[in-house]
Amino acid sequence: MKIELSDKKVFFNNNGLKKEIHPFWLRERVNGDNFVDKRTQQRLFDPTELRKNIKINKLKVSGKSLEILFNDGIKTKFNIKSIIKEFLKLDDVEFIKKIKWDSSLKTLNNFKFDKNIFNNKKMINALYNFYKFGFVIFKNVPTKGNFIVKFANSIGSIRRTNFGEFFNVKSKPNPNDLAYTSLALAPHTDNPYRNPVPCIQLLHCIKNDVKGGYSTLVDGYTVTEKLRKDYPNYYEILTKTKVRYQFIDKDIVLEDWAEMIKLDENKNFKQVRFSPRLDFVPLLEKKKLDLYYEARNKISELYNSDKFRLEFKLVPGDLLMMDNHRLLHGRTSFNANEGDRFLQGCYIDYDSTEGKLKYLKRKFNI
Ligand SMILES: [Fe+2]
Repeated sequence: MKIELSDKKVFFNNNGLKKEIHPFWLRERVNGDNFVDKRTQQRLFDPTELRKNIKINKLKVSGKSLEILFNDGIKTKFNIKSIIKEFLKLDDVEFIKKIKWDSSLKTLNNFKFDKNIFNNKKMINALYNFYKFGFVIFKNVPTKGNFIVKFANSIGSIRRTNFGEFFNVKSKPNPNDLAYTSLALAPHTDNPYRNPVPCIQLLHCIKNDVKGGYSTLVDGYTVTEKLRKDYPNYYEILTKTKVRYQFIDKDIVLEDWAEMIKLDENKNFKQVRFSPRLDFVPLLEKKKLDLYYEARNKISELYNSDKFRLEFKLVPGDLLMMDNHRLLHGRTSFNANEGDRFLQGCYIDYDSTEGKLKYLKRKFNI
């Protein structure tokens, strides 16, 4: 991939495929203190007010830069690498490859908390691992004073829901969700009935004195790939049937229609939703429903099988950060009379972690 010049035009040569770069595209990217605000990188001019017939009068490559004089008298120097990056639409986060995992995963992606972690290189590694595996565990995170709120807001900002800014997970009388009991919770994704579904869940262990109460995680991406390969007809119906997810509380009814496995525009994995107490399939014809129920049973069997389920105990100070669009989580049952099990949770959105990672990469020039 390279930049070529000929006849006062700039070309982008991508493996022999040569295309001209629009001179206006270059003109609206002029840099320097007169054109771009140093701190925010926002334009100091309005490109819609520029003349339309922008052309190039002079141009040359010197070292790693491309120098251009436009026909409106403006001169600028571009970093060729940054033009190539923009042309390939390279995104710092999109290009982190997901690593499929199952119960044989050896690492729990542990990162020891320290008070400077939000602004140092350790956080870059933690976020990379988060995008690769869908989860990381921060160890020794302070457990006093609802620290989870501070933690979440130091990465981005909390996504508030009708459960509040954060929620306390411990057994309580008359619970509005089974999370607030001591029952086992099968692998599920949170809040599939919201639009949009919360992206990332933080779960902070404050106390865990009981014998059971193990946390479980399943990689929805791995299971989806397994289904696609071994049960294509199940994969097909679960990626094409929109079902209604519903949550009813005393003062709100939340509903959203979505596929159990959502693909992106290129038919690649995007999101899973799984919460078989909250899903309602539409009244399809009988044959289709037969297939749908078989498919849901199969995916449930896979999500719940020992082959895919990671089981571990969170200890006080552990803060699990997990991708709620990719991973399923749950817990084993416990006896509430044995002692306390107390976790605090909250949600943040993808723009928080993406923004943090891009900021830190820029800060450390990585
Ligand atoms: Fe949950």
